[in-house]
Amino acid sequence: MSDEHKNVDAETIKRCCTKFYENDLVAMLLGENFHPGGEKLTLHLGEKLGLNEQSLVLDVACGAGASAVTLAKRFDCRVVVGIDLSEKNLAKAKEKAFSAGLSQQLTFMRSDAETIKFDDETFDAVICECALCTFPDIKTAVSEMYRVLKKGGNVGITDVTIANEIPQSFKAIIFHAACISGALSAEGYQKILREGGFDDIHDEDHGYAIQELIENVDKLLYGWEIIRKFCDCDLERSFGITPEMAKSLLHRFEELKKGTIGYGLFTGIKGVKRG
Ligand SMILES: C[S@@+](CC[C@H](N)C(=O)[O-])C[C@H]1O[C@@H](n2cnc3c(N)ncnc32)[C@H](O)[C@@H]1O
Repeated sequence: MSDEHKNVDAETIKRCCTKFYENDLVAMLLGENFHPGGEKLTLHLGEKLGLNEQSLVLDVACGAGASAVTLAKRFDCRVVVGIDLSEKNLAKAKEKAFSAGLSQQLTFMRSDAETIKFDDETFDAVICECALCTFPDIKTAVSEMYRVLKKGGNVGITDVTIANEIPQSFKAIIFHAACISGALSAEGYQKILREGGFDDIHDEDHGYAIQELIENVDKLLYGWEIIRKFCDCDLERSFGITPEMAKSLLHRFEELKKGTIGYGLFTGIKGVKRG
């Protein structure tokens, strides 16, 4: 956990993050995928991990299940299991799997990334998109991913990267949920994977994905403002987060973006020699 959150207990951070992604306005603004790069980056990650019809895949912090469904569909994986803390998003994920006719291949269940409810050496691949940086104990989460992977299995992480020290004003818990204050540098993710036991670590820069996400959210907020002008119903009350709050969060992202905030993809292998 970052120093700034030492006074906030781990359970509060997890609860805040879970609630943030359960919020209907956040879900509407982010769309199907709660991560920069969307389906395209998930498919690229699947290619990098060499997924195929034999693969048993775990999606850690799967959100509303978009990545798990995409991977099961594209690579015809034997099984994709998605875990998350949010019952609300897990229910949406199950619904998606059912609508796609993939309920046989997809399983969603509540589990904490820091105590994954699976036996050692269960999966061929583990993915975690835009969530590692939100976990209070990243090291434990990485060691859990290592534990549940079979020897020779692959891990694939995509996450927000931070190049410079972020200003104090970004240390509030909302910025932790929004993947800023807990984010690491690209070297930081590599180090944590290496120290977690992974070999053959590679990284790719996907910084453009942050820019795309900001532009999309900006457009949706603009549309929202137009709707508000012509609609007298109190849309905000039903969402809990006002468009002003969302806009201010977005502008803070833009402020940081210049040379500081990026998005990276990191892969590693659980080497056969280590045990
Ligand atoms: C930014 S969203 C990413 C969701 C998904 N990976 C995607 O790309 O669409 C972060 C997710 O992490 C989940 N989460 C936060 N802390 C968690 C934890 N300790 N264990 C499991 N899931 C967690 C939240 O509920 C949320 O769904």
